[in-house]
Amino acid sequence: MKEEFEKNGYYVLRNVLTYEEVDRLAKPIRAAFNRGDYDTLKKGPAYPAPGIHSMGPRVLEDNPEIAALSLAHPAIMEAVQELFGEPATLAQYWSIMRPPGAGLGDEPYVKGSGAHYDYKPWRCVGSYVKWMFAVVPFVDYTETAGPLTVAPGSHLETTVLPSDGRVHPVDAAQVPKPHEITLVDPSLKKGDVVLMNGFLWHEPLPNYGNSDRCGLYMKFHAKSSPPACGPTIYPSSVHEVLPEGAKHLVPYHRSDGQYAAVRDGAVGGVDEAQLLIEDNDDKLLVLGNDTDGWHLPRFAAAEDETAGILDVCNVMGSVVTQTRERLSLQVPWLSWLVDLAEDGTEEDAQAWRCRVYGHRLQSSAPGIAAADDATPGHRWMSVDDLEAAHAADLLKDGADVLKWLHMWQNEEDEEGRPVTRSFGVPTTDVQYFTYNVNGNEQGTYRVGEFDDDGHPVPAVA
Ligand SMILES: [Fe+2]
Repeated sequence: MKEEFEKNGYYVLRNVLTYEEVDRLAKPIRAAFNRGDYDTLKKGPAYPAPGIHSMGPRVLEDNPEIAALSLAHPAIMEAVQELFGEPATLAQYWSIMRPPGAGLGDEPYVKGSGAHYDYKPWRCVGSYVKWMFAVVPFVDYTETAGPLTVAPGSHLETTVLPSDGRVHPVDAAQVPKPHEITLVDPSLKKGDVVLMNGFLWHEPLPNYGNSDRCGLYMKFHAKSSPPACGPTIYPSSVHEVLPEGAKHLVPYHRSDGQYAAVRDGAVGGVDEAQLLIEDNDDKLLVLGNDTDGWHLPRFAAAEDETAGILDVCNVMGSVVTQTRERLSLQVPWLSWLVDLAEDGTEEDAQAWRCRVYGHRLQSSAPGIAAADDATPGHRWMSVDDLEAAHAADLLKDGADVLKWLHMWQNEEDEEGRPVTRSFGVPTTDVQYFTYNVNGNEQGTYRVGEFDDDGHPVPAVA
């Protein structure tokens, strides 16, 4: 399995689920589509109209038992973790419903015109560098229903570069023109599960048939390769039903309905953010004064207005905007460090979550223009300065801040294990990226370079 997966970028686990298991998994998902309880409903025309209808983790809230048939199915979980060589974390739990006619427009369909891959630094479900898909088709993905085609070996066109001591740039393959892409049909049948490297190019073909093409598209990342935009938040009910040996798959969850979903608007379950902004002399920005003490920049967090179901939980847009407006600092990218959370189970307590991100500036101790009276003084502190401030009880959450800075500067997670952090950007930065969809010149695009306006550099035409 491992050899084939590494060479081709995908591997099909044949007949790992029985028909009965697939049906039991699909039942609540199909029922939710039928009653309009899915995340793309407001994008209209509703299911069963042709279109690509989709649903995030919401189905798990009331049907957490389907976790055992999907994300925590022993055959899937074991294969994913064996291929990673380490524990996995669930990132995406996404059901796609493609009724007859889905993917067909007025023009004849050109094979390869929908080829793409899903390394996306603007999404919680795409901003990591060691990850894979696990796709569970609910029906046979026949020639008629629309195969999920793959470009064998295309994942090898993308290279994760060494880090600068903090984050890893990526030389991301530019998906070329349709006729330059060789796609094969892995003939997925009901009961099969295909595992696909996150950098593998793939394309779903249109549904020419007369019945629904429906399946579950999960993404897992290696624990050592966290999402730069931060984790996707799940309903707590799924964490609760998982057996001890599988609870680590869903570590980030909320019990108050504030998890990844699109209802009247985007919901993500992230209330606040704190920033570790480091200059190029390894000094950290803190706000405050010597009398009242010092603290990290801290902002209310919000989802982007345009966020779809796969964009939710990435609050960088609001954070980057406030950093620019209130601190006059341009932070074009961030990389997630840790989430702080209260589960709301204490009496009178409300569930709450704060996301901590890191950023390293190219310059040394830039001045901070106070935008208003509410912007306090600032200082750039070395680790020694921070330790002294903490010892004098003048650094808010001092022990935590020192720990997060250590994690950041040493590329470690909360448990002291090595991590590969990468670049995360606001969801709205999608407009600057074209590398991952077809039609490009052959070559690569460097993810991790930004222009003077703080936007990702344009691809070379
Ligand atoms: Fe995709």
